Amino acid sequence: MTTTGTQAYGEAWYWDNRYSNEPGSFDWYQKYPTLAPIINLYVPHSQPILVVGSGNSVFSEGMVDDGYTDVVNIDISSVVIEAMQTKYRDRPHFKYIKMDVRDMSPFESGSFGAIIDKGTLDSILCGNNSRQHATKMLEEVWRVLKDNGVYILVTYGAPLYRLRLLRESCSWTIKLHVIEKLASEDKSNNNPVWELTKPVPLNDDGSSVDEALGQNPDVHYIYICTKEIK
Ligand SMILES: C[S@@+](CC[C@H](N)C(=O)[O-])C[C@H]1O[C@@H](n2cnc3c(N)ncnc32)[C@H](O)[C@@H]1O
Repeated sequence: MTTTGTQAYGEAWYWDNRYSNEPGSFDWYQKYPTLAPIINLYVPHSQPILVVGSGNSVFSEGMVDDGYTDVVNIDISSVVIEAMQTKYRDRPHFKYIKMDVRDMSPFESGSFGAIIDKGTLDSILCGNNSRQHATKMLEEVWRVLKDNGVYILVTYGAPLYRLRLLRESCSWTIKLHVIEKLASEDKSNNNPVWELTKPVPLNDDGSSVDEALGQNPDVHYIYICTKEIK
């Protein structure tokens, strides 16, 4: 069977190829400055942080410049990890490790206070056997999080397509925020569909989100999933 189009987003060879051909930095969905208010709200500066599927984005650099001192980045692509290690060779506290988010066995359980995912679960959901791979990923994310740690998922996936997966994988306590898709570009937009730092009401099936935002709002979704130990 051939893997075509976005189906290949779950494959290491696709990303190796892409990063070989596009060596410059690129941030999917959103850049650090637009998401900083949410990161600052949920992630204390003292916590060890893991960025999964970090790619060649400058998001982690933004976090470090904002005072986060312990940020570890992993990606399945050896091409991008080597490129980032070279880029930051004079800044040894920028940590880049080649690792598959579905098997983070080099990390002990409970290692991180926060895990940030911008576009990586989405990529895994594009591939073959996506449900199985996504569940494996989420179980590993849960394992390496400390108790009361947060998994911050930035995605194009609306609650209808993400809530069940999140809830069935682990017993997360979930809050939802949204940000305009063009927030990074459109600095003049003083009238967002919803205030970034205010959680959107979230009921069991997510229908409350449509009531609050209308159908098909032009937003990225930010799921704040807490490993709350009751
Ligand atoms: C859509 S890109 C997002 C990159 C970056 N987070 C950003 O916001 O710009 C998805 C990234 O996930 C990585 N990736 C895909 N599958 C992975 C896996 N199983 N484990 C770790 N990284 C993976 C890809 O190599 C790619 O860098």
